[in-house]
Amino acid sequence: MPEKMRWSILGPGGIAHKFADALKAISDAEIIAIGSRDLQRANTFADTFDVPHRHGSYVELANNPEVDVIYIATPHPFHKACAMLCLEAGKSVLCEKPITVDAEQAEELIACAREHKQFLMEAMWTRFIPVMVKVREWLADGVIGEPRMLTADFGNRVVLTPENRKGRLFALELAGGAMLDIGVYTVSLASMVFGAPTKITSLAHIGETGVDEQAAVLLRYDAGQIASLSCAITTRTSQDARIFGTKGSIHIPNFPRATSATLEISGKEPVQIEMPFIGNGFEYQILEVMRCLRAGKLESDVMPLDESLAIVKTMDVARAQWGLEYPPFSPV
Ligand SMILES: NC(=O)c1ccc[n+]([C@@H]2O[C@H](COP(=O)([O-])OP(=O)(O)OC[C@H]3O[C@@H](n4cnc5c(N)ncnc54)[C@H](OP(=O)(O)O)[C@@H]3O)[C@@H](O)[C@H]2O)c1
Repeated sequence: MPEKMRWSILGPGGIAHKFADALKAISDAEIIAIGSRDLQRANTFADTFDVPHRHGSYVELANNPEVDVIYIATPHPFHKACAMLCLEAGKSVLCEKPITVDAEQAEELIACAREHKQFLMEAMWTRFIPVMVKVREWLADGVIGEPRMLTADFGNRVVLTPENRKGRLFALELAGGAMLDIGVYTVSLASMVFGAPTKITSLAHIGETGVDEQAAVLLRYDAGQIASLSCAITTRTSQDARIFGTKGSIHIPNFPRATSATLEISGKEPVQIEMPFIGNGFEYQILEVMRCLRAGKLESDVMPLDESLAIVKTMDVARAQWGLEYPPFSPV
C-alpha cells in the first residue's frame, strides 16, 4: 500500500461532495480520480476538489491503475453493477448504503468480492462515529445489563414537487422511498445491537409515486428482544435511538449523526458523553477502510458483509409485506 492511499469516487452527485470534503481532511489519503458518465461533470467535480484523473466513464475509472480504492456514490439500483465493475478490475470498494437494493443483488456482489479477493464494505458511516464506538463498548461491558428493547426513528420531511418526483428519493425506478434511504440506518442499528431478527412485521404508507413515504418495523429476536423502528421521507420525526437493558438504558439523540449519548443506570446519576466529529463525520468510515486495507483484510469486523446482507434481507421482508416491488432497473 502506498503511504498515501489513493482514493477515487464513482458518481459525482450529492453525497460525493461530502465524501470528498472528508477525504481532504485525512492526511494519509488523497483523492486522485473521479468517474462520471459525463466527462464535463467529472471535470466540474475535479476542478472543485483538485482531482488529477478525470474519467468520462465508470469503466475507465475502474481500470485506472493508479487507484487503490473506489467509493461508489450512485443511487441504490446501481451499487451492485458499479461495485462489481470495480472489484473485477482489482479495486477495493466502499459502497454507499444500502449495499444493494435487495438480498439477491447483495449475495451476487458479496460473492464477487470474495471471488476476486477484494475488499468490500457498506458505507454505514454512522457505525464508525465515536459515539457509536462508545455505545458498543458499553454494550460489550454489560453496562446496561442485557439489552432487551430498542427504539430508533429517522424521519425527514421532503415535499414532493414536479422537480424531485423523478429524483432518487421519490422515483420508484431509482428504488426511492424511506426504508432504503434512511430506514436502513435504523435496521442497521438494531442489527448492531441484537443481530438478525427471527420475526419481522412492518407497515408502510405508499405515496403517489409508488414508494414508501413512511414505514414502521417491529423486529423480534431469538431471546425475545424487540426493536421498534420508523422511517419517513415526508414526515419529520425524532431521529433518536434508545437501547433499554436489564440494568439501564442508553439514549442517543440524533443517532444517525450522534455527537453525544446519555447512559442511565438504575439508581445512579445519568452520565452524558460528548464526542464531536473531527470533520463532517465521514472520516471514521474512511479510516476504517484504510485500517482494513493496511492490515490486509478483505472486510471490516465492524460492518461485515454477512451483516450487510442480513440487513437487506430484513428490508426485503418488510417490503414484501407492503406489496412494494421495483420495476426492472435500467442499466447504469
Ligand atoms: N451516507 C449518507 O449520509 C448518504 C447521504 C445521501 C445519500 N447517500 C447514498 O449515496 C448514494 C447516492 O446518493 P446521492 O444523493 O448522492 O445521489 P444523486 O446525487 O442523485 O446521484 C449520484 C450520482 O450517481 C450517478 N448516476 C449514475 N446513474 C444514475 C442514474 N440512472 N440516475 C441518476 N444518477 C445516476 C450520477 O453521476 P454521473 O451521471 O455524473 O456519473 C449522479 O450524480 C445513494 O445510494 C444514497 O443512499 C448516503
